[in-house]
Parts: sequence; C-alpha cells; structure tokens
Amino acid sequence: MSIEERLVQTPVIPLVQASDPAVAVRTAQALLDGGLGVIEVVMRTPEALDCLAAIAAEVPDAVVGAGTVLSAEQAGAALAAGSAFLVSPGLDRDVVAVSKEAGIPIYPGVATPTEVQAAWNLGLRTLKFFPASLVGGAPMLKALGSVFRGVKFIPTGGVSTSNLADFLALDAVLACGGSWLTPADAIAAGRYQDITALAAQAVAIARATTD
Ligand code: 3PG
Repeated sequence: MSIEERLVQTPVIPLVQASDPAVAVRTAQALLDGGLGVIEVVMRTPEALDCLAAIAAEVPDAVVGAGTVLSAEQAGAALAAGSAFLVSPGLDRDVVAVSKEAGIPIYPGVATPTEVQAAWNLGLRTLKFFPASLVGGAPMLKALGSVFRGVKFIPTGGVSTSNLADFLALDAVLACGGSWLTPADAIAAGRYQDITALAAQAVAIARATTD
C-alpha cells in the first residue's frame, strides 16, 4: 500500500521530535498501537536521523518519514536513514529534486496560491499546508482547493482534536499532521498510554468525519 493509500484510510500524521532513539521507538509504537502508522520524525534535534533510523528498523509496521527537511543535504541524509517520505516547511527546488531522483514522496509546505502554483509546476500534487491555523485555516484551504483541482493538502500547524474534523471534512485534505499527538510532558513521564489514547482519539475523529 502506498503512503497516500494508507493516509486515505487513516488521515493523520503524528509528529515525533526526539533526542533518544529508544524513546522515539516507544513513541512510534504507542502511536501505532493507537492506529496511526504514518509517522513524521522532525529533523530538529541532533539525534533526529538516529531516531528515524531506529523507528524504521524496530517498528516495521509503521511508515516513517522525515519532517522539517530544509536542504538537499538533509534530504539525502534522511533518505539514507530510511525515510519513506520527506516533509518541508516550505517549497525548495533542490529538496524536491532529491526526492524525485530517489522516487520518494515530498510534501513541501505552502501557504499561498503562488506557492501552490509553483509546486504544481514542479509536478507535485500533494502539499503540506503550513502553518495551517495561522494562514487561514479550513476556509483558506477550501478556497485553495476550489482553484487547484487535483491538489491534495496536508494541513499542519495548530491542528488539534478541536479542529481536526474541520480540516478533514474538506475534499482537498488528504490528511492532517501535528504534534498534539506526542506531548512532550507525557513522553518525559513515560506515559506512552497517553500517546496511544491520543492516537485512538484522532482515529475516531477521522472515522466520524470521513464515514
Ligand atoms: C510542523 O513541523 O509541521 C509543525 O511544528 C507542526 O505544528 P504543530 O506543532 O502546531 O502541530
């Protein structure tokens, strides 16, 4: 099953920010136990690549990708670590080129019609909408979706249980991403059951919205 087929079934991408591969693996397993199997590890810690590689090796039922990929060099390193997809906060031609060369999906961040059009002209049809809640939320995405037919969006940034359904109700939305599923305090306290519960709650919201 492709990543996008998997997201159609369960349209939520939890973000994992970790400095310890063992913690990253436990977090990913907790998310998977709650029903979320497409996981983004953000490249915001020195150990992020090790965390991504550990999840890829030890949680084989999950699909793990790299987020916050800023450069072609970082993209190459993420792919070498086992990243199955790439996510960027913005649109960068060099990062897109690395992903195309590798045949791996890239979901670059866009926030304006000009950026969506630029991504369209690079051949991309699935884009991150970032930071979703600050650049117009669901109403903005509805407007973009009505113009850019055939583009699917992954709103991320300020998405939570309170607005997840609003985004998922839009035809143009493939999935939502966010860090609300992996609260730092729960992870620090070893409360992985909280992560599983948050994942299960997101799955339930998604089911209720898309059924
Ligand atoms: C990202 O990397 O996409 C953002 O940090 C996600 O935003 P959130 O923390 O509000 O979910």
